[in-house]
Amino acid sequence: MLKPLYLTENDTVMVLDQRRLPLEEVWLEIKDVDELASSIKTLAVRGAPAIGIAAAYGMYMAVKDVKEKEKFLERLKIASDVLSSTRPTAVNLFWALKRMEKVAFQNLNLPIGKLIKKLRSEAIRIHEEDIESCLSISKYGCSLVPERAKILTHCNAGALATGGYGTALGIVREAHKEGKVELVLVDETRPLLQGARLTAWEMRYEGIPYRVITDNMAGYFMAKGMVDMVIVGADRIALNGDTANKIGTYSLAILAKSHNIPFLVAAPISTFDDSIKTGEDIPIEERSEDEVLSFLGKRFTPEGSQAFNPAFDVTPSVFIDYIVTDKGIIERPNEKKIKNFLKDENKM
Ligand code: MRU
Repeated sequence: MLKPLYLTENDTVMVLDQRRLPLEEVWLEIKDVDELASSIKTLAVRGAPAIGIAAAYGMYMAVKDVKEKEKFLERLKIASDVLSSTRPTAVNLFWALKRMEKVAFQNLNLPIGKLIKKLRSEAIRIHEEDIESCLSISKYGCSLVPERAKILTHCNAGALATGGYGTALGIVREAHKEGKVELVLVDETRPLLQGARLTAWEMRYEGIPYRVITDNMAGYFMAKGMVDMVIVGADRIALNGDTANKIGTYSLAILAKSHNIPFLVAAPISTFDDSIKTGEDIPIEERSEDEVLSFLGKRFTPEGSQAFNPAFDVTPSVFIDYIVTDKGIIERPNEKKIKNFLKDENKM
């Protein structure tokens, strides 16, 4: 299975550098938490679940050589601060940090060596559970995919964005295995081209038929009857179902509604943020304007131009037909349904 990162026997983290894909397949060997934080910030590793997994490994790396408890706690706190400051929208990051902290505090009475081992196991567990979640999302989501489906997707919510297999692209993979996918329309996803570079790379790797389109072509193909379903991932889902995902998702959802095309969000339970009632409170990452003013590192806009660069937008839940999770499907999501769902899963 294609995995974007893994922990080695020597306790370094190997990261497939997604900034360089698909032109080059380069693995980075990450040796400490600062390098790891920088690989998250610069998008060498990206996608909400993969960011969470990377953060968990980062917490472990920060303490793995510590000999005393006091130092352990100090390092853990610094690591958590450094990692929290990398990408504000992906809630899986904060979820994974909390999980690592919880294991640390619950086991503080253990000898230091054993305590550190607990953190190592927890980070690996977070990674393995994410793969399980993706497989489960894929099965649930596949049941909603019609025969001979033409599916449009945005950004990259694939193996590269998760522990492996993917959420939105996991559903596509599963549906392809069942012979249900006629074509995947891959939004290029400006400004950083996660669709054209990464989703196209994954589709090619799997032999799934696809065409890349520019972001502004989606409406055209919907109007032509060339889209049966839109499937996207999520970076954070509020209690009422409002969903933050890559910038451009909101416009796609409105287009899908206008054309009566089912709009699916695929995400593990860890992407729900029960501390946030509506999408208005989801923090949106602002990235450098250079990413908009340049293309593949080359400036193409007139000298002195300025730009906006929000990395995500929020799709109100009224535009979402299904949220497909690892624990089941929430149809026409709203606060009541999500609260009940999370309660059943002991998340609230
Ligand atoms: O800025 P990125 O590339 O990290 O954005 C990724 C997305 O928007 C994904 O759709 C989302 O994180 C879900 S990944 C399973």
